[in-house]
Amino acid sequence: MIQFRSVDFWIGENHILENVTFSVPRGKTKVILGPSGSGKSTILRLLMGLWLPDSGSILVDGEDITQVTPERLREMRRRMGIVFQQGALFDSMTVGENIAYTLLEDSHGDEGEIERVVRSYLSLVGLDPDLIDRMPDELSGGMQRRVAIARALAARDPNILLYDEPTTGLDPQSAERITDLIVQLRDKMGKTSIMVTHDIADAFKVGDRITLLDKGAVVFEGTAPELAAAQTPFIGEFLAPYRKAVSAATRNVGAGGSGAGRPDAGGSGAGRPDAGGPQARMGETP
Ligand SMILES: Nc1ncnc2c1ncn2[C@@H]1O[C@H](COP(=O)(O)OP(=O)(O)OP(=O)(O)O)[C@@H](O)[C@H]1O
Ligand SMILES: [Mg+2]
Repeated sequence: MIQFRSVDFWIGENHILENVTFSVPRGKTKVILGPSGSGKSTILRLLMGLWLPDSGSILVDGEDITQVTPERLREMRRRMGIVFQQGALFDSMTVGENIAYTLLEDSHGDEGEIERVVRSYLSLVGLDPDLIDRMPDELSGGMQRRVAIARALAARDPNILLYDEPTTGLDPQSAERITDLIVQLRDKMGKTSIMVTHDIADAFKVGDRITLLDKGAVVFEGTAPELAAAQTPFIGEFLAPYRKAVSAATRNVGAGGSGAGRPDAGGSGAGRPDAGGPQARMGETP
């Protein structure tokens, strides 16, 4: 469970977040949506304790990360995996070294054990384990993003996953595979997650609930169909460029009810059969 309670955050004279309140129940995915500069990445930085809010509290499983000791904060951060905006792999390290980065830092296990773990995470994210010795720039953007997710997962088997714009810059098929993976990590592994995006179709597919930010303030919180039905001028303007995607996405979500259960049911998958269920889809290679 993640809770932001009346969080305010300033950088100098700029009020970056204003009275931000939301929560993410265990095993659910929250999407944070909003225009560029609205404070989405800032929310993730605060949640990881990289920055401290000026007021308010940020609770992770009931424990306020703004009040804990630095040692405790480090421990809590270990239970969070983050996929940074741009993926951000180390380009001078192999795929395997990237994924093993924090495993090596903790230096549990021998080399053979680490290689086994790295290979298992590569296949978990649907990549060929033999990519272990390749360099990141030999992989496509979508594959690099999957390596970044594998790295976040491998770190310490986190119970919280944070994704910052995980599909930006990817072709629609690669983006689809990444959002499928995010949904599967929630449904099969029960991860609590937050995905930051400005892509409405991704938001509707992945988010159990959506929080919309405008200039650091929450202007909407609810399900995808509720967002599509909301009538404020800001929401109308924000959704306008995506109107087609919104009506397609809400048709699908609407069929499944409130958008709780499986918001991707039939989602933007454009007719991709759900052959063999999530595990089978996870095993696809891009
Ligand atoms: N290190 C920093 N120093 C000063 N201002 C910052 C810093 N980082 C972010 N900001 C400001 O905080 C605000 C929110 O930034 P943030 O990165 O959270 O936006 P965002 O919603 O993630 O945008 P984008 O969609 O472009 O990634 C912006 O106005 C930005 O200029
Ligand atoms: Mg950002």
